[in-house]
Amino acid sequence: MKWFALIFLCAVSWVQCYKILVLFPATSPSHFILGNALGRGLAKAGHEVTVLSPFQDKNPPKNYREAVLTGLLEQNDKVTPVNLFDMENMHPWLSIYVMNFLGNDVVNKTFEHVNFKKLLNEKFDLIIMEQFKFDAMKALSCHFNVPLIMVSTIGANVWVNVDTANPSPPSYIPDVFLSYSSKMNLWQRTFNSLTILVQILNNNLIFYPAQRKFVQKYLPKCADYDFNNVSFYLLNTHESISESVPQVPSAINVGGFHINPPKELPKDLKKYLDNADDGVIYFSMGSNIQLSKVKPEIRDTLTKVLRKLKQRVLWKYDEDTLHRKPDNVKLGKWFPQSDILAHPNVKLFITHGGLLSTLETIYHGVPVLALPVFGDQKLNAAKMETLGYGVKLSFSAITEEDLTEALNKILNDPKYRENAKMRSKLFHDRPIKPMDEILYWVEYIVRHKGAPHLQIAGKNLPWYQYLLLDVVLLVVLFVTIPIILLYIICKKLCCSGNEKKKQKKE
Ligand SMILES: *[C@@H]1O[C@H](CO)[C@@H](O)[C@H](O)[C@H]1NC(C)=O
Ligand SMILES: *[C@@H]1O[C@H](CO)[C@@H](O)[C@H](O)[C@H]1NC(C)=O
Repeated sequence: MKWFALIFLCAVSWVQCYKILVLFPATSPSHFILGNALGRGLAKAGHEVTVLSPFQDKNPPKNYREAVLTGLLEQNDKVTPVNLFDMENMHPWLSIYVMNFLGNDVVNKTFEHVNFKKLLNEKFDLIIMEQFKFDAMKALSCHFNVPLIMVSTIGANVWVNVDTANPSPPSYIPDVFLSYSSKMNLWQRTFNSLTILVQILNNNLIFYPAQRKFVQKYLPKCADYDFNNVSFYLLNTHESISESVPQVPSAINVGGFHINPPKELPKDLKKYLDNADDGVIYFSMGSNIQLSKVKPEIRDTLTKVLRKLKQRVLWKYDEDTLHRKPDNVKLGKWFPQSDILAHPNVKLFITHGGLLSTLETIYHGVPVLALPVFGDQKLNAAKMETLGYGVKLSFSAITEEDLTEALNKILNDPKYRENAKMRSKLFHDRPIKPMDEILYWVEYIVRHKGAPHLQIAGKNLPWYQYLLLDVVLLVVLFVTIPIILLYIICKKLCCSGNEKKKQKKE
């Protein structure tokens, strides 16, 4: 019945229903959480959505069709031999290089995939794609001849900023792979600038040429497609969890759109949380990091310290049993994280600092202890500390003393909870819910055929003009040439004067 109502609504009202292709090919569950939430939101609004990803929605809603990249998850374990825990101490420049490898691998497999190839003969009104080193796939916008909206799962970073010519001075905006805040010392600013330069050079000299080859091979008609020909950016971040930065008109912050209002907890969990007189600590390192694979010493440190607490601990763990599991710890392979954080007895969230966890903890105003491992986690953790609602520790170098001290600090100093609550108020105080804002802009972009008027002209300038290097050169020449000329003339005059004197003497 609902289904008919929707079609009816589309047919008779001014509400337009579009065919939208949503591409989230990353093999990480947290990326799919966003792609899935986006697809569901669009489908609920009446659009006909096709979601391409390696994951499946167990209960897809009406209007929501899936093109599953089967086999990508299974192969992923074999093809990417990078142990996530090794990445904690990896040099950021090396991580930038490793990302090329992951991006090329996913793009290669996607273009070859039968479920992807089937889509190429269909028609769409719009493409929405995740920005995560899959740039070759942007050329689908040329193939279907429709506008392209990108979703940056990690908020604005150098990839987005360069594409949109967004002003992002390295003097106060740290790169996503570094753990700096907006206040950097001279050394940090130098290293930050160089890291951003490495990102740009890596993209232009190594990564884009590799991605271009995929476009030439699989979408030859679009071989010349410009990788920055993007109509709009949806950034998965918000001012409440991050420091404010400039933003071009073709990008908006929609962080938190994946979070649904809290639902009733399963009975056993509800009882466990309700009866926790001293409160509960929720401990989860996200969907990628498997704590059973970490060095036993680190796990022992965690169990030793957690055992001494009077709080109960809900621990998301990837195996059924944990060696020397403390009595106050309850294990689970999966928890309804956002609904748990909504419970008033949850006092603290021990997290890896992923962006989704950060958004969820601020949605509910719960302070955090961050143990970041890779990617943007260190940067997110640094922001938690700067904004005063969390403490960060190095995961691989964790000690009993540091962990105990950090936990006591967050549990006993009300400042952390107050700051988390204050940030939560900022998070919720918006003119419009993030999913509704997405719907508005998605329809706007199709209505206005890509809305090219939103693009800033800086995007089309050559880099030396954008950085005013030609102007600087001109000014330098204007100032120095007269000085040099004056110098030469003076020298000539003086010399000839001297010579005349000399001649007179003779
Ligand atoms: C793409 O994948 C195929 C098959 O797995 C492999 O042989 C080929 O080398 C890959 N190409 C690139 C450019 O990675
Ligand atoms: C950019 O994409 C639009 C479609 O959204 C297309 O009309 C335009 O020709 C493209 N421009 C370039 C330079 O590729």
